[in-house]
Amino acid sequence: AVSHEIFSTVSSHSVGGTMTAKERSLARWENEGGEIPQPKPSRENSIVPLTKLAAWQALEKHYPKVRELHLRKLFADDPTRGNRMTVEAVGIYFDYSKHRITDETIELLLQLAEESGLGSRIDAMFRGEKINVTEKRAVLHVALRTPKGESIFVDGVDIVPEVHAVLNKMADFSTKVRSGAWKGYTGKPIRNVINIGIGGSDLGPVMAYEALRHYSQRDLTFHFVSNVDGTDFAEATRDLDAEETLFIIASKTFTTLETMTNAHTARDWVLKTMKDPAAIARHFVAVSTNAGEVTKFGIDTTNMFGFWDWVGGRYSMDSAIGLSTMIAIGPEHFHAMLDGFHQMDEHFRTAPFERNLPVLMGLLGIWYNNFFAAQTVAVLPYEQYLKRFPAYLQQLTMESNGKHVTLDGTEVDYQTGPIYWGEPGTNGQHSFYQLIHQGTKLIPCDFIGFVQPLNPLGHHHDILLANMLAQAEALAIGKTPQEVSAEGTLESLAPHQTFEGNHPSSTILLERLTPMALGKLVALYEHCVFTQGTIWQIDSFDQWGVELGKSLAKQIVTELESGATGQLKHDSSTNMLIRRNTIV
Ligand code: F6P
Repeated sequence: AVSHEIFSTVSSHSVGGTMTAKERSLARWENEGGEIPQPKPSRENSIVPLTKLAAWQALEKHYPKVRELHLRKLFADDPTRGNRMTVEAVGIYFDYSKHRITDETIELLLQLAEESGLGSRIDAMFRGEKINVTEKRAVLHVALRTPKGESIFVDGVDIVPEVHAVLNKMADFSTKVRSGAWKGYTGKPIRNVINIGIGGSDLGPVMAYEALRHYSQRDLTFHFVSNVDGTDFAEATRDLDAEETLFIIASKTFTTLETMTNAHTARDWVLKTMKDPAAIARHFVAVSTNAGEVTKFGIDTTNMFGFWDWVGGRYSMDSAIGLSTMIAIGPEHFHAMLDGFHQMDEHFRTAPFERNLPVLMGLLGIWYNNFFAAQTVAVLPYEQYLKRFPAYLQQLTMESNGKHVTLDGTEVDYQTGPIYWGEPGTNGQHSFYQLIHQGTKLIPCDFIGFVQPLNPLGHHHDILLANMLAQAEALAIGKTPQEVSAEGTLESLAPHQTFEGNHPSSTILLERLTPMALGKLVALYEHCVFTQGTIWQIDSFDQWGVELGKSLAKQIVTELESGATGQLKHDSSTNMLIRRNTIV
């Protein structure tokens, strides 16, 4: 059973309402500073397990009927489908008509969202309630993009001014680096920026840098070192001049083994050239929530950019963790990206569920994951600059929703987060698309495209977009055995050339890849994850699953470095492997 403490209280203001910013701030203030709202004995607070919800059970009955329907027929029967089953909001055109759904499916999924208390859960997040229950933390990445002048309270403190103070400090520093005013220890301007971090302290920065490279300052080079494999550091630095290199040590905790190992190697590398510990202050800055550890490392906290425990690592690319992004694209573009995030936040918070992009996307994901038993989702950006977007989404989605118990610790009896994977579109077409088209697995796809190219070159963009549209059509409609034989194909080859079709996909279309568009896109997936986590009744904001490996690794390092002489207490396989690795 899920307790009242775990499920958030219901806001006195409806999510779909049109509160002004001032009213919203007041509502938050009332809830934070005023009387603690009492849990209402409403359905949203209900302790009904997911599979006992009426909508869930109705979906179970509904599924066998829909499973038999083919998209070819659904489109043929309803010529308006491709127009009707779309939503356009905050500059994103979302076409969900190529999904194996009927109007009734959508109604039932929306009912599921209602019965799951999604509305009150969204409110609770925006109000700063401690919805990350296992770590007793608020989940407020939305505060990172809240405009100046609004308020969000955590433990009685308005955090929005703090957010903007850090943004200003970042802007000041970025401007100095970009203009050459920030000099290295020997007086040379900075030419290379190396972000050292891992997980959320790497994937967001590297994805955003690649995505927004078009807008970046080209006389600066950017590198991202994450892997504790020494090769990552060695290759990133081999052609660089330490006197022109700035390291950003990005770590929420400032204790992560990989990051701290790389950071110490970076310090040695700098000191090898400059030989004076005073050089550290000119060549290292830190992004962290842990001032104590930053100081211990030797970085002056005046060169530290802070953030807060209410920002999860995988939700931190728009916090100070985005310092490398801001240096690359400049403060103005960074603020445009924040604006994009904020527009999507407001859409998620206020739009009715039937026109709410993250909610619809999340519900469709539930439909395949839990009813069609699809194991994975392919993310296929038709935009080269988004080449790291699938990798970024892997942490966002899988660290968030890879959970096996509900908020109160009960083992789930249904599937939770699917596996996310993908590659830029046309490259994938010549690699793994075969399996999506003709393999035995159902893989829902997200096609992501942009109407305008950033690098218009001859017919490239038309060919690119044509491929995206063609793939989505081929997956949905397929090619029947009759169509194959009508082409005069040998009978023996007909089964090989038949496309069953009925493979579902969403098409997510934006005008142009701008910083603002990227902000919208990332927030879309963040809130899709939130929607799904709410329905699965799990904590999408902790990550205990990474801890066991971390602590075992620490122990094994000691064993490897001591030559594994003592008695090893692992399983026999691990013991043998440790011994083999100590034989030089
Ligand atoms: O892998 C676990 C994790 O805690 C991620 O959630 C996080 O993004 C990453 O490690 C890095 O952590 P930190 O920023 O504290 O170095």
